[in-house]
Amino acid sequence: MTLRSVSSDFAAPDGGFIGPSLCWWTISRARPMAVCRDIGLHLDASVPAVTGTLPPGHPFAIRATVLTPLTAGGSEHLADGIVEVDAGGRIAGVREAAGAATAGVIDLRPLVLLPGMVDLHAHLPQLPNAGLGAGLDLLTWLDRYVFPLERRFDDAEAAARLAPAAFRAFAAAGTTTVLAYGAVFKASTDGAFQAAEAHGIRAILGKVMMDRITYDERIDPATILDRSLRESEELIARWHGADDGRLGYAVTPRFAVSCTADMLRASAELAARTETWWQTHVSEDPGEIDEVHRLFPEARDYVDVYDRAGGLGARTILAHAIHLSDRELARLVETGTRIAHCPSSNLFLASGVMPLARYLEAGLAIGLGSDVAGGPDLSIFGVMRVGAYSQTVRRVVADDTEPTLAPLDWLRMGTLDGARALGLDERIGSIEVGKEADLIAVDPRMTAAMRDLPYDPAEVDAADVMSRLIFRSHPDMVRRAWVRGRRLEGPPGPA
Ligand code: GUN
Ligand code: ZN
Repeated sequence: MTLRSVSSDFAAPDGGFIGPSLCWWTISRARPMAVCRDIGLHLDASVPAVTGTLPPGHPFAIRATVLTPLTAGGSEHLADGIVEVDAGGRIAGVREAAGAATAGVIDLRPLVLLPGMVDLHAHLPQLPNAGLGAGLDLLTWLDRYVFPLERRFDDAEAAARLAPAAFRAFAAAGTTTVLAYGAVFKASTDGAFQAAEAHGIRAILGKVMMDRITYDERIDPATILDRSLRESEELIARWHGADDGRLGYAVTPRFAVSCTADMLRASAELAARTETWWQTHVSEDPGEIDEVHRLFPEARDYVDVYDRAGGLGARTILAHAIHLSDRELARLVETGTRIAHCPSSNLFLASGVMPLARYLEAGLAIGLGSDVAGGPDLSIFGVMRVGAYSQTVRRVVADDTEPTLAPLDWLRMGTLDGARALGLDERIGSIEVGKEADLIAVDPRMTAAMRDLPYDPAEVDAADVMSRLIFRSHPDMVRRAWVRGRRLEGPPGPA
């Protein structure tokens, strides 16, 4: 048995994860080890696991560089700032450190405190396949890589094996809010919600609905629609709004290729009646679009399929939308429908490149999505990077003369715009007083091209900080993540 000290900046409670005034832990070699959420050390497995509804937090304050978009526009950058979080997990103060009291403040300098990333589109059961199948067209990739994998995500045990690690991985990538698809099975979606509840991440999840083609051969096709609606409604009753809105439900018909018009209509009705979200895919791949035209000859175009089902509107998040006609674009804007832009997936599956500037100019509401495993990378910083390169390629190869986004625009899209797409921007998406403290602390030193370069936060402006985080992302650069002021397990510990 040995005792090991923990560095002093953990002496103050920062989120109440494993209790206040933590200085010493007993470490045993004889018993199984668990990774300590707070300090990244391997600790005795008797350290209590966090399960169920979150414990109340502790007020705490952090000193770091602060970089955030602002709701009113623009951004705030404090090279040396202090963010205070109250006992309810809300941001109580954002100020310059100079001249402020610093006693008891957790000093994370030179880490950069950002709002947690919002991932508007991911597929939980697909994480094990991340990086497999590059360049296949969507429908072949689904058949070969995705449906066989999702078929195995079929019960609570499968969820217990995968979902806790998946949520840790999202947090390690800097994502504090994720909108994700499960598989077609109720039990594993329920298990995924349980894992999200215990982990602390903000999660909106949905059981996938498919009645035209499906990978669950055990269900009598004649009963799929009713059963899928009933099971979705049961999950909604249990999870939508749980933990004061930290968990939510998205009714999830997979896409028009796998759903009948009846399923699309009934699922949209369910979402409207229960005030949940509605998510699906649209206009991702040329072969998929052709198939939709073949299956829905009465519809004007792909967007019209969802329009006829009553699926468009402010609670709807459509993934991809990269090949829209002007009519489709105008209709999505008119209905306030939200888009999850997933550029790394779009290149990985050779689907196409979104004309992002044209869409933004038209007023389309857009946030970012990893689309794992269509996208190989969970990190929204990585998504920003591929998104930025994609727009540059449009300019240099396709003669697109629209302006490209700057690093701080990408930050906004990956945080506040994502929160806005979910209608959660009054709660999260930026580091502003009154919002819930969904934060990440990122180490900018890890983005340098050489080790041990001196780093002085006072000498780096906001755009350059963000540019490095996008274009020189390091997989371990997110050192901490919090939702409502509560530390999330996943990021690899202190600086
Ligand atoms: N369209 C329908 N299902 C999927 C999926 O799982 N991933 C992607 N990228 N597109 C889809
Ligand atoms: Zn997807």
